[in-house]
Amino acid sequence: MRILFYTGKGGVGKTSVAAATALRCAQLGYRTIVLSTDAAHSLGDSLGVDLRAEPLLVAPNLWAQEINALHELESSWGQVQEYLRDLLAWQGVETIAQGELSVIPGTEELFSLLQIKRHHDEGLYDVMVVDAAPTGETLRLLSLPDIMRWWIARLFPIARALLKVVRPVARRVTDMPIADDDVLASAQKAIDALVDVRNILTDQQVTTARIVMNLEKMVIREAQRSLTYLSLFGYAVDAVVVNRILPADVDGHFAAWRAMQQEYAPQVEELFAPLPLLKAPHYNREVIGPAQLAPMAEALFGNQDPAAFLYRGPTQRVERTAKGFDLIVPLPFASEDQVHLAQNADELLISVGWHRHRIVLPQSLARLQAQDAYFEDEALRVVFAKA
Ligand SMILES: Nc1ncnc2c1ncn2[C@@H]1O[C@H](COP(=O)(O)OP(=O)(O)O)[C@@H](O)[C@H]1O
Ligand SMILES: [Mg+2]
Repeated sequence: MRILFYTGKGGVGKTSVAAATALRCAQLGYRTIVLSTDAAHSLGDSLGVDLRAEPLLVAPNLWAQEINALHELESSWGQVQEYLRDLLAWQGVETIAQGELSVIPGTEELFSLLQIKRHHDEGLYDVMVVDAAPTGETLRLLSLPDIMRWWIARLFPIARALLKVVRPVARRVTDMPIADDDVLASAQKAIDALVDVRNILTDQQVTTARIVMNLEKMVIREAQRSLTYLSLFGYAVDAVVVNRILPADVDGHFAAWRAMQQEYAPQVEELFAPLPLLKAPHYNREVIGPAQLAPMAEALFGNQDPAAFLYRGPTQRVERTAKGFDLIVPLPFASEDQVHLAQNADELLISVGWHRHRIVLPQSLARLQAQDAYFEDEALRVVFAKA
């Protein structure tokens, strides 16, 4: 299965571009499913159909799905959320990176991510197009397993043991939040599934992300940050989509906008090179339904197959050196002063801004110590050697 993951700032045209891509894939003969993981659903509006929680055939070869959380797990997730929040809070905010308390996903977000796993595992489709939430939210959700795995490996066994041995007095001997066994089990299940989702989305043979943007300063900046963070977490990006490019024949008010866009266009080209740019014009009406999505797909892809890997960039990797090994983490647009590193036995924590990625070190590195780190060719190079 091939997965195309569209993300970007709110309102830039993610849903439209995802729908147009899916339509083109279906027309090329791929069995295609398009689904939205953005709680602000508009995929149905974009396609011009009323979508359901289960995949619905909306055009030849094209299925679409709008997840809502009416699911048997829904009620239990509420309790799980509450418990995880208590557990994290009990650990004390000072030991938790800023923002980590807010990572516990809402029911709908969780279930839409889990649908990715479902379709991947079932294998009924050739291509899955994901209309994702804005990048920050998506990353927060996908870094949940990273953060939770650590706490849960240490705290769940304690919680379980307390539950069995001293249940009646547990609340007196410790103020650690205690949950029922089934809440613990549900939490564990959800987190395991999210780990699987993340593994699917960081499998560079399967998934690539595409960042959708417009030619406006704030949007460009956010797209740059998105590329940094996606790279930090090991997601491959294979294209940037520049949407809403004003045509030459606008006048008045919009002529000034066009002039501004024309100024940014070459900058964007240069900033994001060698990533290919897919471009769509600003249409004279909203893009709704197959009749309007088809020309958008044409503008974006021309004769290109949207399911192709449009670019293969460098990936996180380990290189042998004279003294030991280097771990190389591509981090486009990041600067040295934004990055913090900490090694903890077999884990390396890389923080960029407040996003924190926990890399479990391969054995060759776990025996060594991170001695130095520097930037080279938009990648962070962490030097490992004997202590
Ligand atoms: N290239 C375009 N030209 C004209 N309207 C567009 C274009 N791209 C998106 N739109 C319209 O802009 C609105 C927001 O687009 P949408 O795809 O929902 O953005 P997002 O999913 O990023 O929030 C929709 O009404 C959509 O029809
Ligand atoms: Mg949208």
